Amino acid sequence: MTSPSDKVPATDDLAATEFAALQDTWQTLGKDDPLWAILTDPDRRGQGWDLDEFLATGEADVAKYEVLLHDAGHSGSFASVLDFGCGVGRLSLAWGRRATAVTGVDIAAAMIERGRQIVATEPNVRLLVNDDVDLRQFRDGTFDLAFSHICLQHMPWLLAAGYIEEFARVTTPGGFVAFQLPSRGRPGRPTRRRIVDALPAGVRTRYRRWRHGTAAVFDMYYTPPEDVLAVGDRAGLDLLIQQPDESAGVGIEGYIYVFRRRA
Ligand SMILES: C[S@@+](CC[C@H](N)C(=O)[O-])C[C@H]1O[C@@H](n2cnc3c(N)ncnc32)[C@H](O)[C@@H]1O
Repeated sequence: MTSPSDKVPATDDLAATEFAALQDTWQTLGKDDPLWAILTDPDRRGQGWDLDEFLATGEADVAKYEVLLHDAGHSGSFASVLDFGCGVGRLSLAWGRRATAVTGVDIAAAMIERGRQIVATEPNVRLLVNDDVDLRQFRDGTFDLAFSHICLQHMPWLLAAGYIEEFARVTTPGGFVAFQLPSRGRPGRPTRRRIVDALPAGVRTRYRRWRHGTAAVFDMYYTPPEDVLAVGDRAGLDLLIQQPDESAGVGIEGYIYVFRRRA
């Protein structure tokens, strides 16, 4: 006889299953066309990105965060920055021009491999694979800024919330945490997309193989600001700025959040 707990996967099992599906997807994308997977401009598909142009977008994105951090009271002196979901280091490189040391982490070894070639000119930037649903490879208070851009939006909230709590843990007291998350899809988003996004990872993968011939299709998840703020508060983060942001796509409502870790 089975008890209800035999049938409902535990949160840890769910997180592990979602993590494995995510890693598979991004590893495939990272091997195939990493720059396009990061910035999906339809005109740049099939290795169509010029690397300098691609990196210039990173400089612009980081400059935007720099202004917000300044407005939030940051001194402008960055000692140790975490770039979570760094991809090929588009933003790590731009942080590297501002910070003493930058650590980029990514779930996909293929992204990190390509990224190490790209950041090779900047000895203060290191890129590492993060193979876990948390940031256990870093001690408490390792960074004075934990940052993530267009990454948390591609994972279920179960995982994203856990990483936000980890951002707080690995940030030094008084340090800053800044990231972006979309809150609501475009009006009229197809019902089919919403249903597929809500499927358990295994079923979603099988559906995609059937429909697209590949499971390497990434999802977009939308998180209401109340949920973001609740997790931040629980983790010991005080919200300083919540700035409207459309990095997830034009017409997609979202925010950049800047928090400060309670001392
Ligand atoms: C759209 S790309 C953005 C990359 C980079 N932040 C940028 O803006 O150039 C999303 C990245 O997040 C990474 N990613 C997805 N889930 C992750 C996770 N759980 N842990 C670490 N990286 C993850 C993917 O491999 C991918 O490189």
